[in-house]
Amino acid sequence: MEHIVSVENLSKDYETGFWKKKKVRALDGLSLSVSEGQIFGFLGGNGAGKTTTIKLLMRLLYPTEGSASILGQPIDSVSMHRQIGYCPENPYFYDYLTPVELFDYFGRLFDLDASKRKAKTGELLTKVGLEERDWKKQLRKFSKGMLQRVGLAQSLINEPRIVFLDEPMSGLDPIGRREIRELIAELPSKGTAVFMSTHILSDAEALCDEVAILSRGKLAAAGKLHDLLAESNDQPRFEIVVAGADAAKLRISIPNATEIEQRSGDTLVIANRDSDIEGILRAARDAGGSLISINPIRRSLEDLFVAQTKTD
Ligand SMILES: Nc1ncnc2c1ncn2[C@@H]1O[C@H](COP(=O)(O)OP(=O)(O)OP(=O)(O)O)[C@@H](O)[C@H]1O
Ligand SMILES: [Mg+2]
Repeated sequence: MEHIVSVENLSKDYETGFWKKKKVRALDGLSLSVSEGQIFGFLGGNGAGKTTTIKLLMRLLYPTEGSASILGQPIDSVSMHRQIGYCPENPYFYDYLTPVELFDYFGRLFDLDASKRKAKTGELLTKVGLEERDWKKQLRKFSKGMLQRVGLAQSLINEPRIVFLDEPMSGLDPIGRREIRELIAELPSKGTAVFMSTHILSDAEALCDEVAILSRGKLAAAGKLHDLLAESNDQPRFEIVVAGADAAKLRISIPNATEIEQRSGDTLVIANRDSDIEGILRAARDAGGSLISINPIRRSLEDLFVAQTKTD
């Protein structure tokens, strides 16, 4: 499959301090690639370097080292930038414009004729769930969530082949998040791949085919979400619930179980491997207990994320 984004050994130092003498490495040797037709999740905690990476790709910042290409073209290609979309983190627009005026302006930038501009404005503002009564209101009166919707709609005006969304769900309430999630989910089928940064892991789990996890400017893990989760689940643990057992007795006879917990009359035992289950059940019976349930504990993206970002 063709890669529509390739990043090679990309690094960025910010120069800070009064004389700009002090260097802060925000991104450190990032390499990754994104395949056509997918939703790619770019994950990382606060300050991991997500926005820096996206700004480098948008040519809003210049890299200290490394290179990148989008749609097979170098990132300074003007013709490539006409075929992509970008919604910044906390989008900000000229306060005294209305959404209709803003979209007319962006439509002109992309050489759309008047009727196409009008049609596209209506289509996109409806799609992001902005009510018609707000279409002619000045943007200064908009809430954070409404501006986020305008930003998302703006990034799709040129029917981009790939859209870069920096924290697209920030500022949205739960219903808004679901609406925007549904909108993003259908973009690949309309010919628009998605590169989105987020620290909301449930959104990434619901939407993304592949992810990259960034930790302090470095790539901590990358790949298909399914594979990453399977890999971290290859040594499954089990949660065993037993009723009526004497927990003290149980504790002595099953040294292998790391955790035993009393929960409203029941005892919860964690088996660290499936070969431990047999012994735990025997011990539970000997301690006068009876089995209620055995359930595998699956690691979520959240566990994976915490494990990856904690290691360095
Ligand atoms: N203009 C700047 N000057 C100096 N340092 C900066 C600048 N912008 C970002 N940084 C630093 O670079 C690092 C990465 O920041 P970046 O904004 O890329 O992180 P992020 O992953 O987008 O975080 P968040 O989830 O909070 O948006 C941080 O340590 C940040 O303090
Ligand atoms: Mg950011």
